[in-house]
Amino acid sequence: MKVNKAVFPAAGLGTRLLPITKSIPKEMLVLVDKPLIQYGVEECLSANISDIIIITGRGKTAIEDYFDRSIEHEILLKEKGKHHLLKSVDEISSRINLTYTRQKEALGLGHAILCAQNMIGEEPFAVVLSDDIIDSDIPVMKQMIGIYKNYRHSVLAVQRVKDEDVSKYGIIQGREIGKGLYAVEDLVEKPDLSDAPSNLAIIGRYILTQDIFGFLKDTKPGKGGEIQLTDAIRSLLSIQPIYALEFEGTRYDGGNKLDLLKAQIIYGLKNQETRSGLIDFITSEGLISAAKAPGGGV
Ligand code: G1P
Repeated sequence: MKVNKAVFPAAGLGTRLLPITKSIPKEMLVLVDKPLIQYGVEECLSANISDIIIITGRGKTAIEDYFDRSIEHEILLKEKGKHHLLKSVDEISSRINLTYTRQKEALGLGHAILCAQNMIGEEPFAVVLSDDIIDSDIPVMKQMIGIYKNYRHSVLAVQRVKDEDVSKYGIIQGREIGKGLYAVEDLVEKPDLSDAPSNLAIIGRYILTQDIFGFLKDTKPGKGGEIQLTDAIRSLLSIQPIYALEFEGTRYDGGNKLDLLKAQIIYGLKNQETRSGLIDFITSEGLISAAKAPGGGV
C-alpha cells in the first residue's frame, strides 16, 4: 500500500534551545527564510506524501498560523503586484492536506505517534522529526520510499555516530543486506556505549506499518520515563521484518545551537538570494580576525 501520510510530532518543549523556545516553537525556527518544519514537509512532498498530520501541544499555535492562509499578506502583495512573494506565502499550504491533533501530555515520542492513530487508520505512514535537518541531493524520505517499495515493511533512517554520541540516540543492531541497507535485528533507545549493539543511530525519519499502533498502546514508559517509539518498534520486530537505511546526506541536529548555526550557513550558501553575499561575508578579513580574537562570551 502506498505511503500517503506523514506524522510530525511537534509538541516538545525545545528545552535545549531555551530561551528562544519560550515563545517560538522549535519547529518554527528559521533556516534562511522558512521554518524547520517546512523543510520536512517539502521532503515529504518530494516523496509524494501530501497528507500531513501535525501533533501539537500548548504554545504551538504559530505552526497552525504559518500553514494557514494569510489574507492580509495576499491582499497587500496583490495590490503591490508582488506576485513572486505571493507564491511564497501560499504555495506550501495549497500543496498539502493538513490535520492537527494535540498531545495533551508530553509522555514521549511513542505517545505522540499514538495520538495520530485515528488519522492514520489501516495504512503505512511516515514520521518526520523536523529538528533533524538533512541536507541531501535526493531527499531522505524519497530514498526511504524507494526501499519501502521493494520490501513493504517499516524503514528507519540511520547514520553512524561517534562513540560519545551513541547514548543520545536509538541504536540498531543490523545485518547488512545491501549497500547501506540493514535488516534490523534489534534496537535500543539511548543505550550506554558499553551496551550499544553498534553506532548506527536512528535519525528522525521513519516509515512504519500501521501494526505499530497495537504495540504503542502496550508500551510502558522506558528511557527517561517516556513512552519510547524505539521500544514499540522493537516489539514490532517480533512479528515482521524492519529495515534500516544508512541514507545519503548530511544531518544537522536542529535542537543543538552549534548545528543550527552550521545549517544556517549551509542553507544560506544554497540559497540564490543569500549565496554570494554570504560567501563575501565568511571570507572577509573582518570575520577571520573576529574568529581569531578571544571569545566574547555573550
Ligand atoms: C528521538 C528518538 C531517538 C532518535 C532521535 C533522532 O530522540 O527517541 O530514538 O534517535 O529522536 O533525533 P530525541 O532526540 O527526541 O530525544
